[in-house]
Amino acid sequence: MNQDYIKPDNWSVIEEGFDVTRIKSSESLFSIGNGAMGQRANFEENYTGETFQGSYIAGIYYPDKTKVGWWKNGYPEYFAKVLNAPNWIGIDIEINGENLDLNTCMEVKNFRRELNMKEGWYNRSFNAILKNGTEIAVNVRRFVSLKLDEIGIINYEITPLNKNAKIIYKPYVDAGITNEDANWEEKFWEPLEVSKANNKAFVTAQTFKTHFKVTTFMQNSIWSNGQKTAISPSDVETKSDKIQFNYDVIVAQGEKSSIQKIGGYTVSLNHKNTLIAAEKAIEKAVSKGYELLLEDQINAWSEIWEMSDITIEGDVKAQQGIRFNIFQLNQTYLGKDSRLNIGPKGFTGEKYGGSTYWDTEAYCIPFYMATKDQEVARNLLTYRYNQLDKAIENASKLGFVNGAALYPMVTMNGEECHNEWEITFEEIHRNGAIAFAIYNFHRYTGDYSYIPEKGLEVLIGIARFWHQRVNYSSNQKKYVILGVTGPNEYENNVNNNFYTNYIAKWCLEYTYEQVQKVSLEYPLDHKRITEKVKITDSELQSWKNVSDNMYFPFSEEHNLYLQQDGFLDKDLVRVADLDKGQRPINQKWSWDRILRSPYIKQADVLQCFYFFEDHFTREELKNNFDFYESFTVHESSLSPCVHSIQAALLDKMDMAYSFYLRTSRLDLDDYNHEVEEGCHITSMAGTWMSIVEGFGGLRVRDNTLHFSPKIPKEWQSYSFKINFRNQILTVVVSQNETHFYVNGDTKLALVVNGQKVFASKSPQN
Ligand code: BGC
Repeated sequence: MNQDYIKPDNWSVIEEGFDVTRIKSSESLFSIGNGAMGQRANFEENYTGETFQGSYIAGIYYPDKTKVGWWKNGYPEYFAKVLNAPNWIGIDIEINGENLDLNTCMEVKNFRRELNMKEGWYNRSFNAILKNGTEIAVNVRRFVSLKLDEIGIINYEITPLNKNAKIIYKPYVDAGITNEDANWEEKFWEPLEVSKANNKAFVTAQTFKTHFKVTTFMQNSIWSNGQKTAISPSDVETKSDKIQFNYDVIVAQGEKSSIQKIGGYTVSLNHKNTLIAAEKAIEKAVSKGYELLLEDQINAWSEIWEMSDITIEGDVKAQQGIRFNIFQLNQTYLGKDSRLNIGPKGFTGEKYGGSTYWDTEAYCIPFYMATKDQEVARNLLTYRYNQLDKAIENASKLGFVNGAALYPMVTMNGEECHNEWEITFEEIHRNGAIAFAIYNFHRYTGDYSYIPEKGLEVLIGIARFWHQRVNYSSNQKKYVILGVTGPNEYENNVNNNFYTNYIAKWCLEYTYEQVQKVSLEYPLDHKRITEKVKITDSELQSWKNVSDNMYFPFSEEHNLYLQQDGFLDKDLVRVADLDKGQRPINQKWSWDRILRSPYIKQADVLQCFYFFEDHFTREELKNNFDFYESFTVHESSLSPCVHSIQAALLDKMDMAYSFYLRTSRLDLDDYNHEVEEGCHITSMAGTWMSIVEGFGGLRVRDNTLHFSPKIPKEWQSYSFKINFRNQILTVVVSQNETHFYVNGDTKLALVVNGQKVFASKSPQN
């Protein structure tokens, strides 16, 4: 059974009742972030039960030397680690001589967590009866500021309920932390300096090898019944990597005492002197104060929701699901900094060890294109342009020449930092998604300028890679691609993965066309680029020859594209006939058994139908969908969304709806039994696509928005907004009708179910 303890609510994620077995899952689900930093919902006070501690800073990583494969030529030297950053949230609490620890106290009552997505804060409240008999009520609110993105703030309130209490608050900053995921059990942080002034303290540390310098800071104030007191620390405990202040207060029964802790990070990516920057960050936050910071937070989130909210009437779980996804995406990446990207776990866990996967181009770009200013998606494309040299170096390590580029499967700075051979060397389809995103950006935004400026060089590097990666098979009389892993990672080292061959062919064709277009329309850029990359007509013709003669595995008998050569030789037992107790197979079966099985981790052939929908007939989609869906176990978070979109297109609305719930509530309901490791951030953009592209039927064809709206029977209505070429379109779909509104006085022509219509002026204007 999936977990089901999260209370349905339109705007909040809520947990009620204290259950030690759920701590790690809730730490993931209640994570908070602001694009620059974030952390899991670890308790502020010490907790001796099972927990997964995690605080993270965007762009800070460690190249952990690989343990395997070092003897294979071309093998990446390191597997990057998302770093567990120094802890600024810690506040140990002593009550009448006893440490507060929810794992060991006599009783925990009324435990409740709320992640308020509308306003961007996390709250935890409970009553605890300590072994010494003192009963306290606790309410803690924490947020990381969107406006001042180097700071977060905690308001920790305690009310002794049955007697007076001597409370010692022990806020600290600690850089002596380790990663759960470390290849050699080494420490990743080197402490440099600990300092303090009044109620402020600073720990500066740097990462080994990468030398990112970070000052982690805190500033504390003690409050009594809502009034700030003049109390200063009675004691300061300093170690080389940690500093802790002790504040003693006597609180009468029934009175409320609190500590407010401002904390956060200043990093060398942004500042020369991180200590001075930390002083300034504190000053700004203190001058605002908790209430104003909270007000700013609510306003900043309201601006985000104004553009990106999706409403669903009549289905609270579906509503909560989509808002959770949109909230998490915005917590992870806001598009302010082109050095950053969207890690699959965002600020919610360490898994995946890198910041950037093909997930960004294949899944996230549509969300950011439609809900933010166009610059944000352009920044994401520029990120790859800036890493082109490294992609060329990466390909050359594998023996490719002449500027062929292989983008990494996982990267922090452009270097490959994943180290399973079947992924690093073989999951080369990622190169295709990077090219596809360039096409998609132009298709959606209408802004071609990116291609002559930057995109074409990326496309040429990628086309050169595919051109060299194929080989001519005199047996097939076609070009083949051998030894790859497709998107379905439950198959490795296969020949002629349909998706890979198709996207390779498309990349060659598309790049060929863009070289021609740039040559005609942007002759100066064409000259600059061709001189730089030294491309010749014969090279272009040779690409064309390969793309025109690519081999695709196909079964005449089943009228199907085959996921790869030999797929039909498998023991084709459908997922429906597989004992439920065997799933998820990645937790129940050996890897060897998985590889031989017919089970598909995520959309593979169907991923091709998703990207290139208009290249195939509806009949072809149906045949391939019915076949492959029946073998798919969706053990990648990226899988249900594509299936939901295609099921909606095929009018399988019940199926589309259940895939929608699966994608949108993947973490909230923990379908894959792994949420304690962190949330699946990148697939959350897929959830957005399943509403906008799936149910709404949004497509862009010939510079025009097309819709074919459908609605699950469980919903009364839904609505979403998109930014299309700087016009804001609101789409409202109910069981009987659909409305399209455009902001301002402009007109917007659309095609709805094949008919041309105009969006009307929004009633709110
Ligand atoms: C999927 C990949 C994906 C990665 C990060 C894996 O489980 O198979 O396609 O890029 O997760 O989300």
